[in-house]
Amino acid sequence: SKTFTIAIDGPAASGKGTLARRLAVHYGFHHLDTGLTYRAVAKALLDQGLPLGDEAIAAGMAGNLDLKHLDRKALSAHDVGEAASKVAVMPSVRRALVAAQRAFAETPPGTVLDGRDIGTVVCPDAPVKLYVTASAEARAKRRYEEILAGGGEADFAEILADLSRRDARDMGRTDSPLKPAEDAHLLDTTEMDIEAAFLAAKRLVDEAL
Ligand code: C5P
Repeated sequence: SKTFTIAIDGPAASGKGTLARRLAVHYGFHHLDTGLTYRAVAKALLDQGLPLGDEAIAAGMAGNLDLKHLDRKALSAHDVGEAASKVAVMPSVRRALVAAQRAFAETPPGTVLDGRDIGTVVCPDAPVKLYVTASAEARAKRRYEEILAGGGEADFAEILADLSRRDARDMGRTDSPLKPAEDAHLLDTTEMDIEAAFLAAKRLVDEAL
């Protein structure tokens, strides 16, 4: 296809979302945070009081999802993220969402998709794949400081435990576990700010463009 796709994967709070948005703005590409698609399915189930574990119901929701109406703010709640990682283990939910994500990935002139399985499953032929990581402590610290900066209260140990539990669920599932694609560039942001991560990623994209 003629569309240039940048595939970005990594665990929660690794900085992959911020990086994806910066790259999309820089190159004039369309951006999809695929985590929002799993969150939207989870939130629809929670709002309607439906069980998270019913695969047929969840897959029906996934098949009807409109990618143009994903409201980041409405989907940002912590419990929605937790619920999303539970619906994300179901193969028929993943099949429906991956189909929509692949269609988005073809939007010219270029796309940036971020998630857990973009380089491995959704866009295995993407010319640039990035796997963004940071130590669990560094990721928990970012989350913690985000919440404090927003005027909220947070417990660092609880955030760290939540992140570790989410990592284990995302890396341990059978269908499309979180892992770097064989041809992904590893970007460890533990000691990097967003500007340094952006410059490192930009260098890799410019080489492939
Ligand atoms: O990145 P975010 O926290 O919004 O993702 C919520 C959950 O959705 C993740 O913990 C993961 O279980 C799931 N997800 C996924 N595949 C993706 C994106 C997100 O399984 N491509």
